[in-house]
Amino acid sequence: MRIAFDAKTWESGKAAETAALPVWEKNQLTPTGRALDKKTKGAITRAMKAAGFTGARGSFADILVPEGLGIGRLICAGLGKKKDFTSRRAEKMGGAIVRRLAPSSPKKLVILLKELETGKESAASAAAHLALGARLGSYRFDAYRTKLKPKEKGKVGEIVIMSDDPAGAKRLFADMERIAEGVALARDLVNEPPNILYPEAFAKRAQELAKKGVAVKTLNEAQMKKLNMNALLGVGQGSVRESRLVSMHWKGGGEKDPAIAIVGKGVCFDTGGISIKPAGGMGDMKGDMGGAACVVGLIHALAARKARLNVIGVIGLVENMPGGNAQRPGDIVRSMSGKTIEILNTDAEGRLVLADALAYAQKTFKPDILIDLATLTGAILVALGQDRAGLFSNDDKLAAQLHQAGEESGEKVWRLPLGRAYDKMIDSKVADVKNIGGGRYAGSITAAQFLQRFVGKGMRWAHLDIAGTAFASPQSPINPSWGSGFGVRLLHRFLQTRFEKNAAPDGKRTS
Ligand code: BES
Ligand code: MN
Ligand code: ZN
Repeated sequence: MRIAFDAKTWESGKAAETAALPVWEKNQLTPTGRALDKKTKGAITRAMKAAGFTGARGSFADILVPEGLGIGRLICAGLGKKKDFTSRRAEKMGGAIVRRLAPSSPKKLVILLKELETGKESAASAAAHLALGARLGSYRFDAYRTKLKPKEKGKVGEIVIMSDDPAGAKRLFADMERIAEGVALARDLVNEPPNILYPEAFAKRAQELAKKGVAVKTLNEAQMKKLNMNALLGVGQGSVRESRLVSMHWKGGGEKDPAIAIVGKGVCFDTGGISIKPAGGMGDMKGDMGGAACVVGLIHALAARKARLNVIGVIGLVENMPGGNAQRPGDIVRSMSGKTIEILNTDAEGRLVLADALAYAQKTFKPDILIDLATLTGAILVALGQDRAGLFSNDDKLAAQLHQAGEESGEKVWRLPLGRAYDKMIDSKVADVKNIGGGRYAGSITAAQFLQRFVGKGMRWAHLDIAGTAFASPQSPINPSWGSGFGVRLLHRFLQTRFEKNAAPDGKRTS
């Protein structure tokens, strides 16, 4: 699907197969819409009324096209209230339009996004975000479907977005398109079945970032053993698939610029191990590598647009299986940091993988900031549901910045507390720390406390629990996929606005 921006007015435009006309609430037409309506002697106004269309956000009306317009199909797309219009809404509208029209496979779709006159949102930003939404909304994962119905195969050939500032829109969208690629890559990785995407296969996919100028390094089990990564290795030891650890270093900034490390949980399949999970819904655990998928998608986006900053991605890749060689509840392992861990539940495996991945990231790259993402606890779904990821941090400023990046990107987070009382819950009688809190209380917090034990003194750190947002979250116009790719846009926004030189996303800089 090609996306272009054009400044032409409707009258001067060429005949289009399909056109979409955004309409404000109460059927308030844009000047472009009014011109079209006039040209058709009020046919658009009459048709909207007859269809019961009111311009409500997300609603559509198919208009029987009056002769002489040169359009094959015209749909009115409700924008809702003008005062509530944001770039988030523009994205959703873009996604909703392509999703509605794709089944009929229009070769060319013209979106009449001119003269929105919202004041708040620049014409360039509105058009670019609409285009981003169209990209995100047209994502599909059907590599394994051999028989698609004609409608399922449908796609929009080309989109031309009419805008008052096509050059500005094009400039903004150039970056967004790379971000959308990163999101699609993350979604692909989450959606892939676990027999295909096991740790070694995942590492190979990450290795492909080298083509984009990323310094990628993969450690195998023997190399990890030498580094004493016994917490991570212990999780993988019940599987016939070997574990892997991959680092991806994007050096787009200067030598003296800060380095930010992003660490992802990559449990390619989580059966729970000997503390095995119930059968119902276990298939979802193919998505237990959502954190690692996000890291790969993020680094892809940064490298593809040659972002001027230094970011290191580290992912721990394992498969958590029961078996004759599997780790037992009661085992004690010595982690890379030197701390010993008593394993009381083999299903609390993500934190074990992260313990070593966090230690490795800090020791190898000495980052200024450390952020991890993990589908870590079912408890975060109990606390926050599927609309927001859990945020934990030892640094108020970092937490506030991530929160803001969430509001701005639409991938929202909510901060939960850390503290001594919670930390005590993971003290072990026989080792330095145990991998579960004991009771059912504060499950997401005790998991975060566990991770914090592996964060060095003075290190600014944040943890995102994405168990509720990485997969199986409610579908939306911009997320039609099981795997959402959550975190790519959030962290991209955070990195770009806080660390990138000369960055001016949406033409505004926030600080
Ligand atoms: N991968 C799961 C967490 C999870 C649950 C992710 C549901 C996505 C959806 C994690 O490894 C796990 O099993 N956590 C346990 C921890 C418990 C044993 C302390 C959990 O949440 O039940
Ligand atoms: Mn588990
Ligand atoms: Zn898990």
